[in-house]
Amino acid sequence: MAAFDICLFLCLFTAARAATVPTYEMNDGRQIPAVALGTYLGFDKNGAVKSQDNLLRDVILQAIDVGYRHFDTASIYSTEQEIGQAVRMKVEEGTVTREEIFITSKLWNTQHRREEVVKAVRDSLTKFGLDYIDLYLMHWPIGLNEDYSYSDVDYLDTWRGMEDAQQLGLVRSIGLSNFNRKQLERVIKEGSVKPAVLQIEIHPQLIQTSLVNYAQSQGVVVMGFSPFGSLVKRFGVDFPGPKLDDPTLSAIAKKYGKTTPQVVLRWIVERNIIPIPKTVKYSRLKENINIFDFELNEEEMQKINEFDDETRYTLPSFWQSHPYYPFDKIDNPVRNPFARS
Ligand SMILES: NC(=O)c1ccc[n+]([C@@H]2O[C@H](COP(=O)([O-])OP(=O)(O)OC[C@H]3O[C@@H](n4cnc5c(N)ncnc54)[C@H](OP(=O)(O)O)[C@@H]3O)[C@@H](O)[C@H]2O)c1
Repeated sequence: MAAFDICLFLCLFTAARAATVPTYEMNDGRQIPAVALGTYLGFDKNGAVKSQDNLLRDVILQAIDVGYRHFDTASIYSTEQEIGQAVRMKVEEGTVTREEIFITSKLWNTQHRREEVVKAVRDSLTKFGLDYIDLYLMHWPIGLNEDYSYSDVDYLDTWRGMEDAQQLGLVRSIGLSNFNRKQLERVIKEGSVKPAVLQIEIHPQLIQTSLVNYAQSQGVVVMGFSPFGSLVKRFGVDFPGPKLDDPTLSAIAKKYGKTTPQVVLRWIVERNIIPIPKTVKYSRLKENINIFDFELNEEEMQKINEFDDETRYTLPSFWQSHPYYPFDKIDNPVRNPFARS
């Protein structure tokens, strides 16, 4: 076989094995892939857990091979560098073009002053080794000072800084994360650019119907984080709620020859929400993207909706006295892990 034929054969073989992921059109006319790989490796007493021995870089290389085109990160995750490195490697070897990859990153709370936003984007771009970010989200409506005391910056000023970064071409689309309905409404009403995306927690125990419906009615694409909810351990803890062997989910999974994580991801996709499953395991990378060849019926969708009990796993109640805290307050807020004392 000639070298060209071998290459053609290998390319076709690789292409046949990689999943093809559909896209949604955002309100700014750009396309966004319908599943994103999560890259948050957790949190310990030293802050965000860092990737060791290029683990995350290698996961991203594998993820591109199996068909992922969308990667979700944030400046606070400390994963931008390895994601950028993997993307550049894959572009250099000719597997993908930069335009075929979609990177979502997020502004951290201590950089909310308007003039700080472009600087924060440039810092992220330096870490990625790339010249633009596809989607840049305000991680929280909550502004903090360097020492993590509350700042008085209005998230609308921060939004103007995000608009500045978009004007400069450093970020292509801009959006919000962890905003409630009133806050989203205000940005839509008072901002110059409409948010393209809202990223919020979505899983069977937190279905957020009204916020999702409102965002989608405004043409804002919704991304759902922590899609597996109670199915998996969180912070090393088994929380109450449906598990991988839940009888309802297992029966649906069996019917379609799928796994329960695939059923939950498909339930999110059917709601036109972009799930963000995180895994560092090759077999699960393949499992979690293999969700575009079956459909749930109304009754199955409803059965999964019935797990809703408004359980939130990302609940920074230590910030609940901040004027822009987006969630309901609770009686016993947890101690602030960011406190510098
Ligand atoms: N905007 C925000 O404030 C925010 C907050 C939280 C998360 N996020 C984003 O959303 C992403 C996902 O959220 P998450 O990490 O909280 O939760 P998740 O994706 O719901 O769960 C991740 C856990 O599930 C395991 N897992 C993955 N696929 C599996 C499968 N098929 N079967 C069994 N177990 C599986 C993973 O283990 P292994 O890695 O060992 O496979 C990991 O322990 C994050 O990485 C981040 O990008 C955003």
